[in-house]
Amino acid sequence: MNGIKIRGTGRCVPKKVVTNQDLANIVETSDEWITTRTGIQHRHHCVTESHADLCLWAARSALEKAGVTPDQIGAVIVATVTPGTACPSAACLLQRDLGLPADIPCFDLNAACTGFLFALHTMECLLNASPRKFGLVVGAEQLSRVINWEDRNTCILFGDGAGAAVVECREGWPSISAVLGAKGDDELLRLPGLEAGERSFIAMDGKKVFKFAVEAVPACIDAVLEKAGKTVEDVDFFVFHQANARIIDLAVRKYHVPPEKYYKNISEYGNTAAASVPLVLSELQDQGRIGPGSRMLVVAFGGGLTWGGALMEFA
Ligand code: COA
Repeated sequence: MNGIKIRGTGRCVPKKVVTNQDLANIVETSDEWITTRTGIQHRHHCVTESHADLCLWAARSALEKAGVTPDQIGAVIVATVTPGTACPSAACLLQRDLGLPADIPCFDLNAACTGFLFALHTMECLLNASPRKFGLVVGAEQLSRVINWEDRNTCILFGDGAGAAVVECREGWPSISAVLGAKGDDELLRLPGLEAGERSFIAMDGKKVFKFAVEAVPACIDAVLEKAGKTVEDVDFFVFHQANARIIDLAVRKYHVPPEKYYKNISEYGNTAAASVPLVLSELQDQGRIGPGSRMLVVAFGGGLTWGGALMEFA
């Protein structure tokens, strides 16, 4: 199978910033507790922006940076657990709003916080079978819609946003060596959806999810490196799902990753689920810290339960 590489990235976050102090005004918590336990200081929540707006602005920016025109796109996947409408999918709305070809697959994918990685792997498969060699992968969430504002265990954690990547598939390029997994569990992390009736809120056993994550992250790193035949030294940058700064700190300590080879933006955005990984990629590209030739090891985990890793290169 021919591999995919990133051509360009984009992102969009809503304007409204919610501080830890804002949350301390509505639930029994404090800036100090949230900062030390999670690393989060702010999160952005939609007020006027819709899920479709976030997707569109992130995707437009990624296309522009990639120098790719809508007619070159061969497939669109939006990874999300909070689409504005179940039908039409967020990906179909992008097809319309970006003026993409009508003879390509466009669909949403739900793998919670691992969604962007599931989508990259799926896109690699799709582009191998497509006459068009560019694909658009978006991770977008409006988690503020599913927050229970009376639950201090969860309401402090989540934010809204979208990140996007335009990828290219070329003969001879190595596969991204994706390693993906799932294990059905509705106790650790749950977002009921339609069965809830009127409103649907996230519920989570934070301690158990934390334990799952600190085992899943190194397992994914080891499995990806083994599949790709690479070592930690072959990786230019580690991109982690931003769920808790302590989970990232444990991983970088275990693999002796120096500060210049990983990045945390959780203090600004909180946990944005499927948007988390592409938001990191987009900020890193804008800062010039990754670009043509960079090899990134991307790792994520989340509800489902799901987990995954991949070795992504920049074209
Ligand atoms: N403010 C103040 N106190 C809080 C609080 C808040 N926002 N949330 C919980 N607490 C309290 C708890 O009630 C508990 O009190 P108790 O000891 O009197 O019962 C105490 O703080 C410790 O709670 P605990 O759940 O053990 O904290 P923790 O150190 O495990 O941190 C999380 C909680 C949620 C930050 C942490 O478990 C975590 O990040 N888990 C992973 C979450 C995750 O990654 N989710 C997304 C998956 S993609």
